[in-house]
Amino acid sequence: MKNYVIHDLPDYFKQYKKSIKNPKKFWDKIADENFVWYQRWNKVVKFDMEEAKIEWFKGAKLNITKNCLDRHLAERGDKTAIIWESNDPNEEAQYISYRELHERVCKMANVLTELGVKKGDRVCIYLPMIPELAVTMLACAKMGAVHSVIFAGFSASAVTSRVNDCEAKMIITSDGSYRGNKAIDLKGIIDEAVEKTPSVEKVLVVKRTNTEVKMKEGRDVWLDDYYPKASADFVTKIMDAEDPLFILYTSGSTGKPKGMLHTTAGYMVYTGYTFKNVFNYKENDIYWCTADIGWITGHSYILYGPLTNGATTVIFEGVPTYPEPDRFWAVIEKHKVTQFYTAPTAIRSLAKESSSWVEKHDLSSLRVIGSVGEPINDEAWHWYNDHVGKKKCPIVDTWWQTETGGIMISPLPFVTPTKPTYATLPLPGIQPVLMDEKRNEITGNQVDGNLCIRFPWPGIARTIWGDHQRYKETYFTAFPGKYFTGDGALRDETGYYRITGRVDDVIIVSGHNLGTAPIEDSINLHPAVAESAIVGFPHDIKGNALYGFVILKETGESRDKDHLRKEINMLISDTIGPIAKLDKIQFVSGLPKTRSGKIMRRILRKIAEGDFSNFGDTSTLLNPEIVDEIKDGRIN
Ligand code: PRX
Repeated sequence: MKNYVIHDLPDYFKQYKKSIKNPKKFWDKIADENFVWYQRWNKVVKFDMEEAKIEWFKGAKLNITKNCLDRHLAERGDKTAIIWESNDPNEEAQYISYRELHERVCKMANVLTELGVKKGDRVCIYLPMIPELAVTMLACAKMGAVHSVIFAGFSASAVTSRVNDCEAKMIITSDGSYRGNKAIDLKGIIDEAVEKTPSVEKVLVVKRTNTEVKMKEGRDVWLDDYYPKASADFVTKIMDAEDPLFILYTSGSTGKPKGMLHTTAGYMVYTGYTFKNVFNYKENDIYWCTADIGWITGHSYILYGPLTNGATTVIFEGVPTYPEPDRFWAVIEKHKVTQFYTAPTAIRSLAKESSSWVEKHDLSSLRVIGSVGEPINDEAWHWYNDHVGKKKCPIVDTWWQTETGGIMISPLPFVTPTKPTYATLPLPGIQPVLMDEKRNEITGNQVDGNLCIRFPWPGIARTIWGDHQRYKETYFTAFPGKYFTGDGALRDETGYYRITGRVDDVIIVSGHNLGTAPIEDSINLHPAVAESAIVGFPHDIKGNALYGFVILKETGESRDKDHLRKEINMLISDTIGPIAKLDKIQFVSGLPKTRSGKIMRRILRKIAEGDFSNFGDTSTLLNPEIVDEIKDGRIN
């Protein structure tokens, strides 16, 4: 790997300048010198920000799995690619070498082919964090099928809507999953989900919990009936640079989830490049990202980024608190992890436990520790720095999104001086700009505004599956000519960025993006509910929690309120998943609305936070008297 590594701060500034002055030359060299291609591109980048049409490395032919697997076989065939750590600490870890992973992926690709999957078909994967999750994703990539991993905490109806949106031909699931001391009936959830998914021809079932499941004749098949006889030879499909690699759903502030489409070449180059630099990756490192592969963090930084670099990546099936609250620290010690990448929510919840849980483990193998998914508050940053990093491991506070494919703003370890709560500086190739409400660029330092990106980078999602218009409207119209992130940010006196949070109706709860509209839609399904509005409020562990204001129909007025609250949360759990449940539900007789009928969420947010000091301009409210009623009934 050449021309890949940033050595020190002057080198960062030099590379950054180069990347902005001549992005084509910059990415051309990185792509050329660090990846294997069947055929070179004839154009590095072509884009039209008005139409939201972006292409990288057009004309190139490649397969990402050649880069993740095949090319490592000669030099690193026996090196461990994946360390799999079970939910149960007494179950033996698996060490899967590059050679074995390659073989498993080829066999799996043959199984999928035998079951009718072809290049371009969509395959939904609903699996726990077991090796087959990585193997099936890579098998799809190898054969040119488009994977769409659905986080295995989503409910049946959330699965149905995603499967239908991408018209998946197959779903891959398991009999069950383990999470701490719970066993979850994944196959049962899929059985319910596929009742309404006409595109699904086959459900492929992996054995994990050995629980009894129903198998529908002609549709459901066990992996064990195919895999042992499958050939280990598979002819890799040659893909175009812009062929779809995967679809990953993320919440929008309105309507149904957005299927973000990532394509092959740009995503590979960007995740490979950022992995190497942001984690200061070196050949014998043991890298561990605790995210679920069902989120973008897992796609980019458990699987693709590490594997294109020939790294050893840990896949952990369990939860941080099982069997005890030191599981993360025990795993770091056991596998001598060098890079550890997790979310502020996990840090906050573990910081609540006695620090003796951390101190009793030898964490001296750690070199770099990272954070992702939501702003990390000062207290959590310092706890992480003091107790986990022992003040010697730089914290990389990495800001990015499902849509960006890879890390965008982050310190580089041993290069960028860190500053608590700041994601610091943009990576080479990334041009952040702050914009005001009037669509003017805010220049200078010590300013804040809407965070946009000026120029495309290779990892950017290319569209929303089946709805390019929505892609264009969501990301490219608010600030014409720029990609709008939906986040607010401030830039300090030295040019460091700090992400201040969402500026739209997406709320990040425990690091999960939740749109208010889908939650409101699901509450409104309750027969006793007339209308609802959701806002976020600060929460010690989760970052934000959800507060619901609910107007009941007359029929609901006489019902037991606690019972109704339970029913509403059950409904949310069934339609979206338990992660979207409300912490507080207040029944109200009306919602503050403007004359045009828009709910003034700003006021609800303030009430939920318990801040009654200044509601701002309420003169446009149709029903100002409602504010006092809601304030008085606030739930503490
Ligand atoms: O608001 C930002 C927040 O998470 C959002 C993206 O969520 P998602 O697409 O689920 O991807 C999460 C993992 C990349 C962003 O718009 N976010 C992510 N990282 C940070 C962050 N907020 C502050 N600091 C971060 N480091």
